[in-house]
Amino acid sequence: MQKILFIGASGMLGKPVALELLRAGFHLTLLARDTEKVEKLFPNIPVIKGDVFDIGSLESAMKGHEMVYLNLSVAQTSRKSDLQPEREGIKNIIEASGKTGIKRIAYISSLIKNYEGMNGFRWWSFQIKQAAVEIIKRSGLNYSIFYPSTFMESLDQQMLQGSRLMLVGKSEAPMWFVAGKDYGRQVAWALKNAGNENQEYAIQGSEPFTWDQAAKVFCDNYKVPVKPIKAPLVPLKLAGIFSQRLNYVYHICEAMNKYPEKFESERAWNDLGKPTITLADYATSLKP
Ligand SMILES: NC(=O)c1ccc[n+]([C@@H]2O[C@H](COP(=O)([O-])OP(=O)(O)OC[C@H]3O[C@@H](n4cnc5c(N)ncnc54)[C@H](OP(=O)(O)O)[C@@H]3O)[C@@H](O)[C@H]2O)c1
Repeated sequence: MQKILFIGASGMLGKPVALELLRAGFHLTLLARDTEKVEKLFPNIPVIKGDVFDIGSLESAMKGHEMVYLNLSVAQTSRKSDLQPEREGIKNIIEASGKTGIKRIAYISSLIKNYEGMNGFRWWSFQIKQAAVEIIKRSGLNYSIFYPSTFMESLDQQMLQGSRLMLVGKSEAPMWFVAGKDYGRQVAWALKNAGNENQEYAIQGSEPFTWDQAAKVFCDNYKVPVKPIKAPLVPLKLAGIFSQRLNYVYHICEAMNKYPEKFESERAWNDLGKPTITLADYATSLKP
């Protein structure tokens, strides 16, 4: 089975994917800035200290691996001019891959970045994500790029604050919420069967929900009482002038509320298997 250098295993969506790749029999090495944090999450898996902005650390970590899996993100507190893992980091990863025999880059992108340019919406973070895809495609390496819808993990790991589930603005378009575990299984299947093909897959779960509908299903099935609370979007936009993090939250909420997501995962379901975890299953499975 192929050896994968996994970057970003400590991330919200890194952990479920790394677990499914291990379950599928891949040999993983985890590259992390904070090795102790990742060793606690994955006690029996080799962890190497490294940083995507340190090309030397990438080159030494990549030796002996055929593939890299990238779970990177734009940090909510960062600015466009800061070093960005999905911009400067990916360029370093491609350069190091060329020197070390890496054959394939697998990368989690997103569906919602396609909201860039719709309804006059412009956001540098989505521009970085669009550029990352183009850089990977031009790299000359084989690639597997995944474009997931919204993850169920966003509900408990980002929006749940104590006994309140924070919603922002008016959710106009449903999204096919997907669980990290289902996505991880699909990634494992894709990478096992990739051969020399380039792969691009939209990733969506089996049921579409607006945020309000998703919040209701979540609250109805979570083991302890939780209440959805709705905040308006406009004050958040104003607060975003003074806070980089609130500026990020405003933009991502605006895009999630408005992006007219269509179902486009037939090919992923046929090739990689259909997701099996419903939002009700997911909420029920959580240990508060
Ligand atoms: N949330 C959703 O519903 C959703 C939907 C579709 C797509 N996505 C995409 O999924 C991706 C991953 O999301 P996530 O929530 O897992 O992100 P995350 O929690 O922010 O994780 C990012 C990971 O990148 C690592 N990292 C950051 N800077 C690094 C550096 N300089 N060198 C090495 N590693 C570095 C972090 O490690 P540290 O522990 O060192 O910080 C962390 O493990 C994002 O690009 C997002 O756009 C999300």
